[in-house]
Parts: sequence; C-alpha cells; structure tokens
Amino acid sequence: MLGNEFRKGLVSDLVKLVGKNQFSAGGASGGGAASGQEAAPGSKGASGEDAASGEEGAVREPALVLGIETSCDETSAAVVAGGIRILSNIIASQVDLHRKYGGVVPEIASRKHLETFIPCVNEALEQAGVGMRDLDAVAVTCGPGLAGALLVGVTGGKALAYGAGLDMVGVNHLEGHIYANFLDAGPGPALRGEHTQQARQGPAPEFPLVCLVVSGGHTDLILMKGHGSYEVLGRTRDDAAGEAFDKVARLLGLGYPGGPLVDSLAQKGDPDAVALPKAYLEEGSLDTSFSGLKTAVAHVVRQGSFSPEDIAASFQKAVASVLADKAFAAVRRTGARVLALAGGVSANSELRRTMLSSGERLGVAVRIPPPRLCTDNAAMVACAGYHGLVRGLRSGWDLNALPNLAVGDESIYLGAGGI
Ligand SMILES: Nc1ncnc2c1ncn2[C@@H]1O[C@H](COP(=O)(O)OP(=O)(O)OP(=O)(O)O)[C@@H](O)[C@H]1O
Ligand SMILES: [Mg+2]
Repeated sequence: MLGNEFRKGLVSDLVKLVGKNQFSAGGASGGGAASGQEAAPGSKGASGEDAASGEEGAVREPALVLGIETSCDETSAAVVAGGIRILSNIIASQVDLHRKYGGVVPEIASRKHLETFIPCVNEALEQAGVGMRDLDAVAVTCGPGLAGALLVGVTGGKALAYGAGLDMVGVNHLEGHIYANFLDAGPGPALRGEHTQQARQGPAPEFPLVCLVVSGGHTDLILMKGHGSYEVLGRTRDDAAGEAFDKVARLLGLGYPGGPLVDSLAQKGDPDAVALPKAYLEEGSLDTSFSGLKTAVAHVVRQGSFSPEDIAASFQKAVASVLADKAFAAVRRTGARVLALAGGVSANSELRRTMLSSGERLGVAVRIPPPRLCTDNAAMVACAGYHGLVRGLRSGWDLNALPNLAVGDESIYLGAGGI
C-alpha cells in the first residue's frame, strides 16, 4: 500500500504540471490539496446549490467535466461535455505488465498509475482542446477497487481540482459503468473546439431501468429509478462473470485477460457441443452463481473429449443464457422500461447477441454501450460525475479511496452525512 511519501510525490508532480502546462492565472495556488473542507481557490461552485437555477454555483451547460479512473489496471482521463459528448477518452492499459502474473498485481498497478496519470490527463486535455481552467469540474473514481490504485486517482483528481479552482465529485466505479449507457456513443472524439456548441443529445435511456453490471469484480442486477437512485436486486454468490471468464481462459491455456480471448476462440466453436450446468438458484432468485459452471468446465477440459473452441462457445452460451433469463425476469418484476448492460463482460459478443435478440422477442428496449465504453474508462466516470454535479453533489477535499464502496452510498458527498 502506498503511503504519504507517495501522495506527496504525486502532488509535487501535479504542481509542476500546473507550472508548465495547462493552468492559467492563479491556478497554481492549490499545492496543499489533500485536506480540509474549504472551497478551492476561485471555485466556480459550492456544495448543494441548485445547478438548474443558473445562479452562482450552478454547472453551466454544456459543462465540461474531467473524468479520472484508476480503480484497477487502466489509467484513464477523459473530457466529457454536458455529460454526454466525449471530447477525449484516454486509456492507458496495464495489461501487458500484469499478463505474466496471470492477474492484476495491486502494488504494480498503483506504481504504474503514478507514472501514467499525468501523461493521460495532459493527453485528454490536449485532445479535447481545453486547459484545466476551461473545465467546470473534476469527477474521480473513489471506489470500489484496489486501494492503492484508487488512491492515485483520488489524490491526483483532488490536487488538479483544487489547483484549478474547480468543483470535485467522487464517483462510484460501478455507477460509472452504468452511466456508459448515457454517453453519446457517436463515431469518436469531437473536433477541437466543438464543445463550445450545445452537446448533441442522444436519446437517454428512460427510467426505471434495470442494469446488469457484469465486470471483473461484479455481477449485479440493479434497478435504477432515476439519476442516483439504485436498488440492488441480485448479485453473484461466488465468482463475478468476468472472473469466471478469466478462470475458464486459464483452464483453456489462454492468456490474460481471459474474457476477450474466450470470446474470440468461441467464434470457431459449436455453442451446443458441451452440455454445461446453469445455476438458477432458488425459485425467483435474481442472484447468480458461476462456480459450478467453472468446475464443470475444468472437468470437461480434463476429460479431453471436446475442442477448446467448443468448450469456449458452450461456456459463453451458458453464461449468456443465465444472465439473460435473470435480467429479463428483473425487468418483468419491476416493470422497467429499459434493460441496460454495463461492465467489461458486456463487450462479450454472445451476451450482446442474446440480450438484443431476447429484447426484441420480449419487446424490451435493450441498451449496450459500444465495447470500448464497456471496459474501464474515464468518460463513463465524467458522465456519472456530471449527473451528480447537476443534482448539486460535490465531495470534500478529504475524499478518500474506498475499496468497498457500495452502489448508492452517498457518504462520499459533502453534506450527505459523510466526507
Ligand atoms: N469480450 C469479452 N467477453 C467476456 N468478458 C470480457 C470481454 N471483454 C472483457 N471481458 C472481461 O471483463 C472484465 C474486465 O471488465 P471491467 O474492466 O469492467 O472489470 P474491472 O474494472 O476489473 O472490475 P469492476 O468493474 O467490477 O471493478 C475482465 O474479467 C475481462 O475478462
Ligand atoms: Mg470496471
């Protein structure tokens, strides 16, 4: 775990960045960003004000938010206009670094974030054609995730916001994944300067919506009744869906991360070749379990009577059909209008196909972000942060890394009985 020396090092690097690069007049005064509840110098907003009012403290439209994401093994910085239009979304993946260990090594992840944080922020600003002073706020993932990795983003995000006199809001990483569904998934980054126009509004998903979050660490079915209003309907009782993909990849002798490799191997296999168990648990349960499926795959691999392609395709089909059955059951039970997918596993081709075809058959609108927005990225964090900011949410300067932060935990916001 990285301590105070580490934090001081990062803050001093950020102050250097202030001096030579993006900040303009007065922006460098925030070297001591790490503690206290006072407003940042020259802050455009204070906590709790009504953003829609147009008074001082409101978020102007289209607000420019710098998103920061460092919860696991991707360092990412993004600039998003009006909570929808992605002006830049820089992602520095550490996959090559962790591959030889077969998984993410937390200490290595933290140290790599420290190296890549400032270059990512610089590139995100440059690609968006803005400086820190053009922004309205900084949104940073503060949990859940790896403590040391989160700490880099949280410390860096606070220092940047304080130095530039911006509001800052902590974002729950899983809420970030959900908000990938609210971004304009248009053709790519906007042209330089385009952010000065009103952001192009794609149709936002309608509430209430059921969101299936399927990622490396989570398999959650969440009812979202409105912005920031969540009810967890079900979750995995053992492995997360992404974890199951990664473990099956290991059983098949594929590399890391396993999900995309299983997905591409499965393209050449027969999804009906191997009969694999599907765990539905008790009648009516919206929880999931993948450990039995993983054990069955291990058994089939040991037997050696099926090709890796057929095993991969059959495994993928088993996961997708259980997830689809549970997700559409949640939609029926809640009367939701939309089913949205989120998290890295929603990049899976079989899951996408199954969800879209079931949605069509059952008359349910299904939203799935493009694959590049399913895995960890800072644009989704900026989007989630934006929707918090317009509801008047801000975080304090003592915001910390919260490895076990739960969806909907409002203690990360000022005036919410927390930080
Ligand atoms: N095409 C794919 N098919 C299946 N799984 C995939 C695919 N692409 C990525 N994944 C899986 O998604 C996971 C990574 O997703 P994500 O980045 O959302 O997880 P995380 O950030 O590590 O975990 P969490 O979001 O729960 O903290 C990995 O387990 C990876 O194998
Ligand atoms: Mg994630």
